[in-house]
Amino acid sequence: MLSETMAKALNDQINAELYSSYLYFSMAAYCRDVGLSGCARWMEAQALEELSHAVKFYHFVTERGGRVVMTAIEAPPTSWASPLAVFEDVAKHENKVTGLIHHLVDLALAERDHATHNFLQWFVAEQVEEEATAGEIVQQMKLMGEAQGGLFMLDKELGQRVFTLPAGTTLVAPAAK
Ligand code: FEO
Repeated sequence: MLSETMAKALNDQINAELYSSYLYFSMAAYCRDVGLSGCARWMEAQALEELSHAVKFYHFVTERGGRVVMTAIEAPPTSWASPLAVFEDVAKHENKVTGLIHHLVDLALAERDHATHNFLQWFVAEQVEEEATAGEIVQQMKLMGEAQGGLFMLDKELGQRVFTLPAGTTLVAPAAK
């Protein structure tokens, strides 16, 4: 059974993951608007992945006897100065999420809640990957500078991304036994 403090913190993370999804959909819409359909596809896949993170937390809270409470999701920004600015914000946002996950780990340790601590390890690893990916795209964009051809190629490459549900994630709760 989750403590009240842990349940509240995990509920806050559900909201944060949903905000991430909302933010990436907003970035996708911006990318579509400026004609970068590959970047938009990448963002849409990212948005769906964040949704699956929220669902992962949702099922965990429920499974541990906690109560999920949905709260208002903050409105994300809707426009950016450049494609580089969008991906810089992705990197910044993922750094922030890493901090949130680490804070949850600290709380689980303080509460000696080993089940939550174990559950969170998946997210610790996931954040390493998310930060690396975002950082790599920012670096590529910076290297390209003003070269439009480079952006065209990168857009094509990013457009190859397809969303696949992370291993071990189910969107629907397992059937009752
Ligand atoms: Fe749910 Fe991008 O971390």
